[in-house]
Amino acid sequence: MAKTTTEEKPSRKSLSELRSQRWFGATDLRSFGHRSRMMQMGYALDDFMGKPVIGIINTWSDLAQCHTHFPERVKDIKRGIWQAGAFPVELPALSLSEQYVKPTSMLYRNLLALEVEELIRSHPVDGVVLMGGCDKTTPATIMGGISMNLPMIFMPAGPMMRGHFGGRILGSGSDVWKYYAEKEAGTITEKQWNDMEAGIARSAGTCMTMGTASTMTSIAEVLGFSLPGSSSIPAGDAAHSRMATASGRRIVEMVWEDLKPSDIMDRRSVENALVIHNALAGSTNAMVHLTAMAKRGGVEIKLTDFDDFAQKVPVICNLRPSGQWLMEDFFIAGGIRALMKRLEHLLHLDARTVAGTIGEGIADAEVYDDDVIRPLDKAIAASGGTAILYGNIAPDGCVIKPPAAEARLLNHTGPAIVFDSYDEMTKAVNDLDLDVTKDHVMVLRNAGPIGGPGMPEWGMLPIPKKLLKEGVRDMLRISDARMSGTSYGACILHVSPEAAIRGPLAAVRNGDEITVDVSRRSIHLHVSDEEIARRVKEWTPPPRNYPRGYYRMFARHVKQAHEGCDFDYLEGAEGIPEPEIH
Ligand code: FES
Repeated sequence: MAKTTTEEKPSRKSLSELRSQRWFGATDLRSFGHRSRMMQMGYALDDFMGKPVIGIINTWSDLAQCHTHFPERVKDIKRGIWQAGAFPVELPALSLSEQYVKPTSMLYRNLLALEVEELIRSHPVDGVVLMGGCDKTTPATIMGGISMNLPMIFMPAGPMMRGHFGGRILGSGSDVWKYYAEKEAGTITEKQWNDMEAGIARSAGTCMTMGTASTMTSIAEVLGFSLPGSSSIPAGDAAHSRMATASGRRIVEMVWEDLKPSDIMDRRSVENALVIHNALAGSTNAMVHLTAMAKRGGVEIKLTDFDDFAQKVPVICNLRPSGQWLMEDFFIAGGIRALMKRLEHLLHLDARTVAGTIGEGIADAEVYDDDVIRPLDKAIAASGGTAILYGNIAPDGCVIKPPAAEARLLNHTGPAIVFDSYDEMTKAVNDLDLDVTKDHVMVLRNAGPIGGPGMPEWGMLPIPKKLLKEGVRDMLRISDARMSGTSYGACILHVSPEAAIRGPLAAVRNGDEITVDVSRRSIHLHVSDEEIARRVKEWTPPPRNYPRGYYRMFARHVKQAHEGCDFDYLEGAEGIPEPEIH
């Protein structure tokens, strides 16, 4: 039987051991400047001397639409930090809006991670509260925090209110794709489409389907980095403010306890995250992000782990895009704590969290709605929320979310129709004379980590307009891209290695037969190995001219999808010396 109590750490830190004391507690020339410049900002010595200094890493901006409540939440967090006898300082970081940052926020996840790590390292802080939620901001801030390894707590942004139009409930992303297909098929009007635009995003907070944002904030909590239950609280709920204040209070205690990410995340917590990811039918993006986070902490994880856990964990969360409900319903049904309670036989209850252990965090949790969080014998899918496929066009693997696909496509053979760029594909799918049937296999390449660049969410290739009008709503689609966590369909993603580095996806030609058999975990191009090798050798990837700057650095250092897309020089758990202060 797993233990459920907190393992005591031997001792608490003393004031002189606090990192910030190197800036403020000394009596040299530099510390004079550190103190006097605090006073320049209007603080008295009593405000900041003899206390922990807590950084609040805030991913707010005027273009971070999901984080518009962060200026208020900063005040809530600061209230908690003051209450607990510490000194709060806000440190703004790259905001990374999923909507506005192009070509894709994924291009900048590692930049934010790097920024967070160096913000913490270079400033006089003893611990941090990380404020994130909109897709990449969660893994990025946590990756940076893990690498810096000071006490940290993640404050999730929380999901927005549910959307609606014309008496119907709308879910972020998922219903956009769904109704766009209906618009293209001519079954809804332009006026209805415009009404949806106004009704789908009604408040601060992240996408309220089980997309990438909710998947990643849930995973952050299950890994142990957030207060129990925090990731399910809607952004606009008064409980969210209270949680922010509690996070502020808790981080101060964590500093005295010296409770660091390395004390929290280990293989047990990563396995817990794999369990919950599957129970949620969470976003495929989690594979890239959880892999990158685990590797930052030196925890071993393989792509096949996602599949192995998918086989033993039922999908019991009835949330869109794989189910029916939205995050607000999940919260009212008991949220992530209730979900974990229902699956406690599969979890390591002794895994550490910012507030004790997973077991302690869910001790009194209950499920209040069995349709939202299903009993095990009424699961959405008994197993198989995620499948990892291998084959001659994906030797390092690729991924599909079987519950989100039409069943007929899970064992399918069809001729390829290949696109080398998103523009080429867009033009083709809008062509009513396109030579395509519902049995074709659509292939998009040059959309991976280097080819995109940044592995954009292009993997839910649009169904050709001609087929939409015939009533087709799903086709087999293969790419080296990612797809939004709110997307659905028979989309095979993250093909690794990508075409841009001469992965065998580059060898596919129009008309080649491709077989996908999810039950066998296989993907196969019906072309001989010799012919594939010959075609790849002949193939010239589209030119990428990045003579300078971040794009150039990205293309040189990003790793492939199955490895988490981190930069090669940022992986690993080795510490970097503290900065000298002279
Ligand atoms: Fe911010 Fe979806 S756009 S979470």
